[in-house]
Amino acid sequence: MNYRIKFQILLFAGLFFWVSLIAQTKQPIIVDVDKPSAAIQPAMWGIFFEDINFAADGGLYDEMVKNRSFEFYKPRTGWKVDVASKDSSHFVIHNRKDENPDNPRFARVTLEQGIKKFSITNYGFRGMGIKQNNKYNFSIKASLHEGSNITIKVELLNQKGEKTGGAEIVPGGKEWKKYTASFLSSESDNKGSLRIWFKGSGSIDIDMVSLFPGDTWKGRPNGLRADLVQLLADMKPGFIRFPGGCIVEGYNLDLRYQWKKTIGDIDSRKTIINRWNTEFAHRLTPDYYQSFGLGFFEYFQLAEDIGAEPLPILNCGMACQFNSAEVADLVEIDPYIQDALDLIEFANGAPDTKWGKIRAQMGHPASFNLKYLGIGNEQWGPQYFERYVLFEKAIKERYPYIRLVSGTGPSPDGDLFNYAQKALKDLHPYVVDEHYYRLPEWFRNNATRYDNYDRNGYKVFAGEYAAQSNYTVSPENRNTWECALSEAAFMTGLERNADVVYMCSYAPLFAHVDAWQWTPDLIWFDNLRSFGTADYYVQKLFSNNKGTEILSIVMEDKPLTGQNGLYASAAFDKDSNEIILKLVNTSQKAQTADIVFKSSEKLGTLAKMEVLKSEDLNMVNSLEKPTLISPVESEIALKGKNLSPALAEYSFSVIRIKVLK
Ligand code: AHR
Repeated sequence: MNYRIKFQILLFAGLFFWVSLIAQTKQPIIVDVDKPSAAIQPAMWGIFFEDINFAADGGLYDEMVKNRSFEFYKPRTGWKVDVASKDSSHFVIHNRKDENPDNPRFARVTLEQGIKKFSITNYGFRGMGIKQNNKYNFSIKASLHEGSNITIKVELLNQKGEKTGGAEIVPGGKEWKKYTASFLSSESDNKGSLRIWFKGSGSIDIDMVSLFPGDTWKGRPNGLRADLVQLLADMKPGFIRFPGGCIVEGYNLDLRYQWKKTIGDIDSRKTIINRWNTEFAHRLTPDYYQSFGLGFFEYFQLAEDIGAEPLPILNCGMACQFNSAEVADLVEIDPYIQDALDLIEFANGAPDTKWGKIRAQMGHPASFNLKYLGIGNEQWGPQYFERYVLFEKAIKERYPYIRLVSGTGPSPDGDLFNYAQKALKDLHPYVVDEHYYRLPEWFRNNATRYDNYDRNGYKVFAGEYAAQSNYTVSPENRNTWECALSEAAFMTGLERNADVVYMCSYAPLFAHVDAWQWTPDLIWFDNLRSFGTADYYVQKLFSNNKGTEILSIVMEDKPLTGQNGLYASAAFDKDSNEIILKLVNTSQKAQTADIVFKSSEKLGTLAKMEVLKSEDLNMVNSLEKPTLISPVESEIALKGKNLSPALAEYSFSVIRIKVLK
């Protein structure tokens, strides 16, 4: 072989090498717009609410007074008694449990033995968040003893103990009466408190001492914290699951969540200990109780306000299997089933039905249009399925339209999960709840989890998931960008399999920065401020860009499930005539995606792009920097039916393109 031929062979081999390398890295991503496949459920992306981490009392429920009716185990919890004398008889807790079993305790203030002035102070839920020029609505139930002459003076204080607002009340009469007063605060403070002075002589009984800001969500009395509801509303969630979570199960059956005890007059909603109070030795929360001021009526109302399908989860006769593992005997299960039937009537029944009437009396004559109902939370084993089947039979007989939610226990694999999968073959839930609290790499590796699920098997409710930066229930877990990015990668797999996966929700939802038990959580708050984590923005982007049908998006005929660190899903939105792409670049390198749309219709010339990114996988949002990781919008030009978005390293992009019909 002469030198010239050798040179030509080498040149050809070199060219072939480069051409094939470019072909490897520059394979086009094909989106088939003409052939949408399965429908995406309108309620696919939702939210999971549980009263954990002070999510209800001290969080979403805007009551500022902690232990307002002295029902905590230590009835003075949250209250400081300010009296010069050491005589404890000035402030005594009475118990009238036979007369009023749901609200047995009240406090008696006695101003005798020369005391002219006496006060008690409530420090709220790790302080009270007060806002300058905001209105505060105080109320108290009181019964003045005969011959007594007592005036009540209310003062809102900043953390230095200086008065920022207040009012005076003059109670009269032995009858229990509710007294109210409103005032403005002259200052803002995150750690305020409420002092109540009693002046005069004699005795007065007090109960249900309450303070609400005037700016609750929709200005409702007994209302919810507006900034927190707004964060939920912004997600446009398809459903809201409530009230949990393990809170449904309770430590034991006595402490289970009983919806009937959470409706009607708030004075008669019996306060009980929150099961997260003592759950974790490393995060004991002795002042965590459930007042149920946020009860089932308010949950339904919240769902309606934010346009989400209500999804209540009910106790199925089983307490938490991680705790007492107490079960109601099968021959005693009927009241539990009756609770479920009655709940459907409470939500949907006409105002002339027993439970529909209570809803109407509470101010909502129209139906709440309940469609979904969960039976048990994170239950497992034969005990669960032998109870579930009884609920299914009774509910389907009376309310065939109700979509039931069953479960698979606490893990997405292993013996309990496998047992559940077998047991579920003979049952007919609408969806089956699967939970995954795993490391970020699990989420990336499981983007294909549902690709091979039996299409004739059960439909999935990914009801609780969150990437754990350390390990499940580790107090060191943080809402890092790596966690959120990995969830986004995983969620492209949920969306690609929307014919199997019908509903999804991150968990838990809320956490008070000074009073949490479980981390990570979607939204964090203190007494005045709140912020969405990077995970929140991932959830929001999916939910706000869900589309109505799945489109195929492939590279070399395969879905993008981690090739070059890329994950993707695509949808078509029939309502807006848009193609919606979700592209997750988990690689440390920026890359350009070469996207080709197979479409018989013309496409718009500009695509809208929203990008969530950070170069630092450990980055987190915080109260001080609430939007460090948050979507940034831009526009990008199409070339005919081609689009080449630049995907930054560690980024999640959502792209919307108009189809011109
Ligand atoms: O989301 C926190 C807890 O995790 C839920 O209460 C429970 O269902 C799961 O174990």
